[in-house]
Amino acid sequence: MSEVTTAADDQSGDALENLLTENRHFAPSAEFAANAIVHGDEYAKANTDRPAFWGEQARELLTWSKPFTKTLDWSNPPFATWFEDGEINAAYNALDRHVEAGNGDRVAIHFEGEPGDTRTYTYAQLTEEVKKAANAFETLGLAKGDRVAVYLPMIPEAVITLLACARIGAIHSVVFGGFSAEALRSRIDDAEAKLVVTADGTFRRGKPSALKPAVDNALATPGHSVQNVVVVKRNGEDVNWVEGRDVWWADTVGTASAEHTAVGHAAEHPLFILYTSGTTGKPKGILHTTGGYLTQTAYTHRAVFDLHPETDVFWCTADVGWITGHSYVTYAPLINGATQVMYEGTPDSPHQGRFWEIVEKYKVSILYTAPTAIRTFMKWGEDIPAKYDLSSIRLLGSVGEPINPEAWMWYRRVIGGNNAPIVDTWWQTETGAIMVAPLPGVTNTKPGSAQVPMPGIAADVVDELGASVPHGHGGYLVIREPWPSMLRGIWGDKDRYKDTYWSRFDDMYFAGDGAKWDDDGDIWLLGRVDDVMNVSGHRLSTTEIESALVSHPSVAEAAVVGAADETTGQAVVAFVILRGSAVEDADIVTTLRNHVGKEIGPIAKPKTILVVPELPKTRSGKIMRRLLKDVAEGRAAGDSSTLADNTVMNQIAESLKA
Ligand code: WTA
Repeated sequence: MSEVTTAADDQSGDALENLLTENRHFAPSAEFAANAIVHGDEYAKANTDRPAFWGEQARELLTWSKPFTKTLDWSNPPFATWFEDGEINAAYNALDRHVEAGNGDRVAIHFEGEPGDTRTYTYAQLTEEVKKAANAFETLGLAKGDRVAVYLPMIPEAVITLLACARIGAIHSVVFGGFSAEALRSRIDDAEAKLVVTADGTFRRGKPSALKPAVDNALATPGHSVQNVVVVKRNGEDVNWVEGRDVWWADTVGTASAEHTAVGHAAEHPLFILYTSGTTGKPKGILHTTGGYLTQTAYTHRAVFDLHPETDVFWCTADVGWITGHSYVTYAPLINGATQVMYEGTPDSPHQGRFWEIVEKYKVSILYTAPTAIRTFMKWGEDIPAKYDLSSIRLLGSVGEPINPEAWMWYRRVIGGNNAPIVDTWWQTETGAIMVAPLPGVTNTKPGSAQVPMPGIAADVVDELGASVPHGHGGYLVIREPWPSMLRGIWGDKDRYKDTYWSRFDDMYFAGDGAKWDDDGDIWLLGRVDDVMNVSGHRLSTTEIESALVSHPSVAEAAVVGAADETTGQAVVAFVILRGSAVEDADIVTTLRNHVGKEIGPIAKPKTILVVPELPKTRSGKIMRRLLKDVAEGRAAGDSSTLADNTVMNQIAESLKA
């Protein structure tokens, strides 16, 4: 077997002991439990016949234009189909049907721009906007099955664009605004996108921040598939304009007809592609389809957040560039008829109380955010949230990385008034929706643990050989049975889907995370066991950043590790061997950080770059990242007896002292 470093290996013995002896439990209040939407009997019901359970959810939560008669087809694993003979329109489910049911005046989105501008969309208004966008995109020649690259900030047009694509059966591929022109181009090429939807830019910490130039750069060299670029005017900065290719949103969507009939698409029709980092250098286009994805996102949103759509105000702070912004901003809340908040900017603009000001202003009752944000708020101090009225909050969610018990307790006490249940939700771009999480009206929550598989989800922890480990033991997180919102493949690469997820263990989905069952039978996530890093809840690949570094002429070799970081969870630390005269270059570190920014995007820039004379390698030439991680985290390097040259670690230590 290849060498894997589990986060479990990296934890000191004490930390693991703490995890296993965590004995604080928080039962939901009697009131919360009594009013909860989902009760404890759901587990038994769901797990007796999983496909039947999901079939029931699909019928109850969604409106089908052609009802399905089949639930799961698993006759050709690992290729699943769900509700295959049914037809459904995602946009109709998110919009029109709420208007038809008399809820057109309910607020769908309270938008808060970074500069403080606001917009409110009712369900009726949002439906109208999506119909106009659907018409406009069709007029530009977009048809069912065509791919659309979306490079937009967190503004309502992002949600409108995705739903307009879904409405006409076009497949969206959102590229996070923090990725560079190069990264955007490679995603455009891989999906052969016909249309790009972007904005002139956005605002970051009070200043305009451009997006359109990256699109222009991405399309500067010929040979791409893009016919048109639709541009939303957001920050009003000057933009370069390519006549015949570029069109303003206001001139196309703005002038289009608001009449548009949604037709059903096959349940297995692709809904979107979303690129994510894996263990190799090339990002994978994770493919999701329609019926199963909508079923599980809607079910989990209702069950895990105990959503009461008439009274709750839901706020998921994730950017639409990530899976969380797809599942729990764009799709599930609207499918479930919720009122939600959408915020464009950063938590510290114009001041560090911005999130709490927004909670107070819109009376947010359910807040879903990431541990990295919570740790940042802790650092800023609890006197900041104390200035605002947070009494509307009745439930808190966490996603993206393990939440340390200390941050969990702070979140509960300072933001949740010592009363709101916290749901720590484990899932992935690939799983499409939440897989492991407490049910807030049922589970006694426990700081730091994502706890239990959702009803209808067969998650388990197994050892090297794929056997279930007993309570109190650790291993690898797997899913034993197909689930509705599972990825259907990797865009353009069938084999890679099988190899990556279904070949590590027989007949099981390998998530890539280390995990433990504690003595109570709760799951603790222990971080990735592969070369994927998690920085501020964002997935980055060590290999991808290494490739970016060695593509610079000054770099001979590079190795990247994710080092523990108090705020961001992990931070990117790169070790590089320079070529020739680059060693004399005083600015080389800045040059290389910018180079990574250009190749992948600002989010991938290493926090630290260490210039070293050698890299630790085994006799077979494999870089021992474990030893580099020791250095990056300031520990004495561990066992180096398998190194080809065991003086290398000393050489590195000496060079870093110098
Ligand atoms: C990590 C984000 C611990 C995990 C939805 C997973 C978590 C990767 C949690 C997926 C959590 C996500 N506790 N770890 N609650 N949620 N992760 O694809 O390592 O961006 O494999 O999806 O994030 O990241 P992705």
